[in-house]
Amino acid sequence: AQQVPDILSPEFAADPYPAYRVMRETAPLLWHEATRSWIVSRYEDVERVFKDREGRFTTDNYDWQIEPVHGRTILQMSGREHAVRRALIAPAFRGAELREKFLPVIERNARELIDAFRHTGRAELVADFATRLPVDVIADMLGLDKADHDRFHRWYTSVIAFLGNLSGDPVVAEEGARTRVEFAEYMIPIIRERRENPGDDLLSTLCAAEVDGVRMSDEDIKAFCSLLLAAGGETTDKAIAGIFANLLAHPEQLAAVREDRSLIARAFAETLRYTPPVHMIMRQAAADVTLSGGTIPAGATVTCLIGAANRDESRYRDPDRFDILRDDLTSSTAFSAAADHLAFALGRHFCVGALLAKAEVEIGVGRLLDAMPGLRPADGFDPVEEGVFTRGPRSLPVRFTPAV
Ligand code: HEM
Repeated sequence: AQQVPDILSPEFAADPYPAYRVMRETAPLLWHEATRSWIVSRYEDVERVFKDREGRFTTDNYDWQIEPVHGRTILQMSGREHAVRRALIAPAFRGAELREKFLPVIERNARELIDAFRHTGRAELVADFATRLPVDVIADMLGLDKADHDRFHRWYTSVIAFLGNLSGDPVVAEEGARTRVEFAEYMIPIIRERRENPGDDLLSTLCAAEVDGVRMSDEDIKAFCSLLLAAGGETTDKAIAGIFANLLAHPEQLAAVREDRSLIARAFAETLRYTPPVHMIMRQAAADVTLSGGTIPAGATVTCLIGAANRDESRYRDPDRFDILRDDLTSSTAFSAAADHLAFALGRHFCVGALLAKAEVEIGVGRLLDAMPGLRPADGFDPVEEGVFTRGPRSLPVRFTPAV
């Protein structure tokens, strides 16, 4: 049998895709000692774990994965508690609320970032744009002072370091715990103030939201805002960077998107399939569950490999080819990500920010293309990806014809 590279090895981190193939083909249910979890890699199996209509999987794993840095969030909830929390939160991320309040926020922040480099003819798209836009947008949606955005970015860096701390480095863990305290000291007074003086922002909307007589406490709202740093920040950051990495590697597809901006939606969907920002999501088995490779015992942790499932040859033709026009992708116009790939998960915890992410990408990528005629890789361009749980390009230095 072929040896499966360990998911914590440097070889895997450098390029996980060959290992994913070996897992799908020869070890679709694989015990992993270091993370003490069962790894599943086939599309069909990952889809079954996410959809789980029978309640055979819980998200109790988040009690140790994210609780220490965020507190109790929607991700740890299930059943009715989750349904009510979802109903409290979801309306802020779709429809008129999204269109009228938050699209202008995205436009404004994208423009400010691009204005800082459009006259220079060069940019590093990860540091100058991708890591900035989603966090600036969240801070601005929440109605936080512009002067506090840098602090918000520092907390963002600390939170994602905590969540990505696979080796359990104690310095990173302590820093995460400190961030939880600092974040609460900053947010709770602002939440209290918004309850007194509501505005037109997301915090005020969350303070006022009520479903079946249930409202969110100050602590609930603070934990949700902390979750947004990771759930809405790092993911969208890596999606924007990923689109540019993939398009710059396929200049004919970059030219097609430049020509027809409606193709940004397809470039987004294909990027989420081909290089998803989140590669691994865990669950806890509530009962014995049989999947294609065998049986997961009750109580065990399951690691779902989104990055592997999205390249499953039984689901996609020629899965290792990046092709925004592939016909096994449906989201050319309508938002149908659930049918396209597993990057937003599926089922109860399906990404509540998917439409916001799509808006950020469409506006962000569109405005960048407008501002960067003649876009091309700069000297030193080497789009290596880094990360194992989450993954994206390390840096993307580019050149273009400067604005006059
Ligand atoms: C849930 C991915 C953007 C907020 C999720 C989950 C995934 C995901 C995989 C499921 C987690 C699980 O089942 O354990 C992504 C990707 C994004 C993105 C790839 C960008 C391309 C956003 C944005 C926001 C957001 C912009 C909000 C600002 C959330 C929240 C949940 C979630 C609150 C939890 C939903 C629940 O538990 O019901 N996301 N996300 N995400 N996402 Fe996103």
